Amino acid sequence: MLTREDNEKLTRTGRGTPMGTLFRSYWVPVLLSEELPERDGAQMRVRILGEDLLAFRDTDGQVGLVEPRCPHRGADLYFGRNEHGGLRCAYHGWKFDVAGRCVDMPILPPESAQKMCARVAIQAYPTREWGGMVWAYMGRSDKGEDEAAELPALPQMEFALVPESHRYVSKKLQECNWAQAAEGGIDTAHFSFLHMPVARSEEEFAQRALRAVRGYNAQSMNQDHVRWMREDPRPRYQVKRHAAGLVLGASRQADPGEHYWRIAQYLMPCHGYTPSAAEGQTYHGQSWMPIDDQTCWIFCYSWNPERPLTREEVASYQTGGAVYPARDAHYMPVRNRANQYLLDRAMQKSENFTGIEGVSEQDAAIQDSQGRIADRTHEMLGPTDIAVVQFRRLMLQSADAVAQGEAPPGRDEPEAYRVRGGGTVAPAGDDFDAVMQRRFGDDVGRVRAEADATAP
Ligand code: FES
Ligand SMILES: [Fe+2]
Repeated sequence: MLTREDNEKLTRTGRGTPMGTLFRSYWVPVLLSEELPERDGAQMRVRILGEDLLAFRDTDGQVGLVEPRCPHRGADLYFGRNEHGGLRCAYHGWKFDVAGRCVDMPILPPESAQKMCARVAIQAYPTREWGGMVWAYMGRSDKGEDEAAELPALPQMEFALVPESHRYVSKKLQECNWAQAAEGGIDTAHFSFLHMPVARSEEEFAQRALRAVRGYNAQSMNQDHVRWMREDPRPRYQVKRHAAGLVLGASRQADPGEHYWRIAQYLMPCHGYTPSAAEGQTYHGQSWMPIDDQTCWIFCYSWNPERPLTREEVASYQTGGAVYPARDAHYMPVRNRANQYLLDRAMQKSENFTGIEGVSEQDAAIQDSQGRIADRTHEMLGPTDIAVVQFRRLMLQSADAVAQGEAPPGRDEPEAYRVRGGGTVAPAGDDFDAVMQRRFGDDVGRVRAEADATAP
């Protein structure tokens, strides 16, 4: 449970809010590289952290992320032309480069245009392309100045370090506040209900379990894992803080003498890794980026440190599997708030717990159902909510730290992001540390040195 004030602090990310300032202390994903496929191609509107911006790719391939208002008389640069070296306003021809500098003012005599240009700029955020996504640092606007050296380094997340053929990247629209969507990713206890098949026999259960976990490698998620989650709906949570965030372990009874551990990561300010990947299998992650306080983009990525992704894996991610929903060309899930996620009551009676198809869709439906911004002042939390409580504490403390002028966790430690989450079966007597050592060779899941061989 949170006070009203803390719920506001956690969920509001506009400019000037504590959480908004925290998000703006990091590089954050703002769009996919594939959304700007061509140099000098069409600019696009981007709404992120409540700010309306324009993104464009210039002649050199650099991505600009700028305010849309032309400083001359306020025309929207969305209607401008993306020309050689910058965006030109369609009204009177002022032109701006990716750093927001005015580079041409054809309506003034050349002598005064040069002087005037030097004094005019639009807001522009520094951008980088990293792991198939465009990242922005929104804590500083270049306003036409050259980038200074004091930008933080990009987080060394493993999906961005592997060769391109080893990863798949996409995104999905979610119609609720970022924090409750992130909490859904951290709360790995819910699998026992939200994603559970319903069946009349164990054979039928096994079949439906496999359908429920499509898109995951069979070693990572199969009918045994789903059965263990059905039979033990009360995972025991352990949470550890590390330099970039939290590692969250949840153990369930597996077959006699063994525990099934699902270990997730939360990385500041808005990234989470799913808890199911078996060793050597494909990993999955999501980044919950506020569009505004009522909607968010969930950037989704899958990567295999050891091999290229297979055609089957990519096909399932494109059509709905693992963390990806079936979605349209604008990354809008086919099952969404407007159509009740195509909830089917007959399916709910006889096939699965929700009557909704797809793990990602089930997550979205239930998270959206908490409200556009979940009211956390009336909750009744229990032992399986420990991870959510730790997440809130981390976010609120970090926002306070930034407000007091301190560096937020991980911002200046890009290497601390080289961690993994995943699942494993361990002897029932092993504690969290022993399980982490056995599964990852490290107490918080840091990537071992030999994995570096695949980094470009
Ligand atoms: S309003 Fe843009 S150049 Fe006049
Ligand atoms: Fe889920």
